[in-house]
Amino acid sequence: DKGGWSSFMAKEISEEPEAVANTIRGRVKDGQVVIPELDGLDELFSGITRVIIIACGTAAYAGQVGKYAIEQWARVPVDVELAHEFRYRDPVIGDDTLIVSISQSGETMDTLMAVKYARERGAKTLSICNTQGATIPRESDAIVYTHAGPEVAVASTKAFVAQITALYLLGLHVGRVRGSLGATEAAQHVLELESIPDKIRQILEDEQGHIEQLAHWMADTRSVLFLGRHVGYPIAMEGALKLKELAYIHAEGFAAGELKHGPIALIEPGQPVFVIVPSPRGSAVLHPKVVSTIEEIRARGARVIAIAEAGDAAVLPYADEVLRIPLAGPLFEPLLAVVPLHIYAMGLSTAKGLDVDQPRNLAKSVTVE
Ligand code: M6R
Repeated sequence: DKGGWSSFMAKEISEEPEAVANTIRGRVKDGQVVIPELDGLDELFSGITRVIIIACGTAAYAGQVGKYAIEQWARVPVDVELAHEFRYRDPVIGDDTLIVSISQSGETMDTLMAVKYARERGAKTLSICNTQGATIPRESDAIVYTHAGPEVAVASTKAFVAQITALYLLGLHVGRVRGSLGATEAAQHVLELESIPDKIRQILEDEQGHIEQLAHWMADTRSVLFLGRHVGYPIAMEGALKLKELAYIHAEGFAAGELKHGPIALIEPGQPVFVIVPSPRGSAVLHPKVVSTIEEIRARGARVIAIAEAGDAAVLPYADEVLRIPLAGPLFEPLLAVVPLHIYAMGLSTAKGLDVDQPRNLAKSVTVE
């Protein structure tokens, strides 16, 4: 039931705040992360020498965001691998490797087979999943459910923010267990995470109309590029994937620093480029670098749509449009910056008269290899 919304996707984007809040609920006690499902695993978390996150599509982008946070907090190397690539090479894994699979449906065949493969080779497996009792969690040693609620639209939205939330809870927990993260710092991150649902609500209230209008104006666009750095990089790729699957146009996400190594040749007058701008306060080193990237592409005629923190005036001289997100710590910005991109992809698909919930050639859950 769409509950009065024009599409399941519209309803599910409106539920992104609850998806984050419900995934946190019951997992914070006295300001610290407590995950009852992971009781008894402290020895495992202390002993691992690496983490490999396995997923496909949007879930893999959530994994890439999670990598930054888990490495920072738990001081353990994290690799993110597409499940279908992982399985068909000869990965170096053993009982000191923790495999974290991420899947909304819990039924994605590629991810399932990769988890089984890793388990047979002695790795411990933890599943982040949105569907109670699905096959992947049943095949895993431990489960952390995301509580986004059922997701019906083929494009994954609320599950994505819930997956990042679950990865952050995991990173904070493992960081505390390994002793790499102090209680005070962990408590600050928990507070920050708990403030995210209201900030997403604010974006939906303040920016949704503006973004839908922008998508409408851009209905004839043939190609859109997305740039980000650090945790903004996987968000750029997520923005591009959504546009491909929903609006059927060419879209690509790049690490902004990679631009001069090739992709800048794509910039010609009128080319729309979304740029995810890190916070000027939280990312004092990266912020000016991204602003200078914007300057460079603008000089070559790009039409720049900046996703920037409220009050960041440095982008104003170069951006054609600015979509504002509330202030958040650097690692938490992806949970905000992705929201305008989800709205935009839905808006462009709608403006083109396409089926937002059931894009062509795609299935909600890919149960074949
Ligand atoms: O159910 P899963 O999370 O395992 O699905 C993984 C991908 O198939 C999925 O995220 C896909 O990329 C979405 N259609 C993206 O919106």
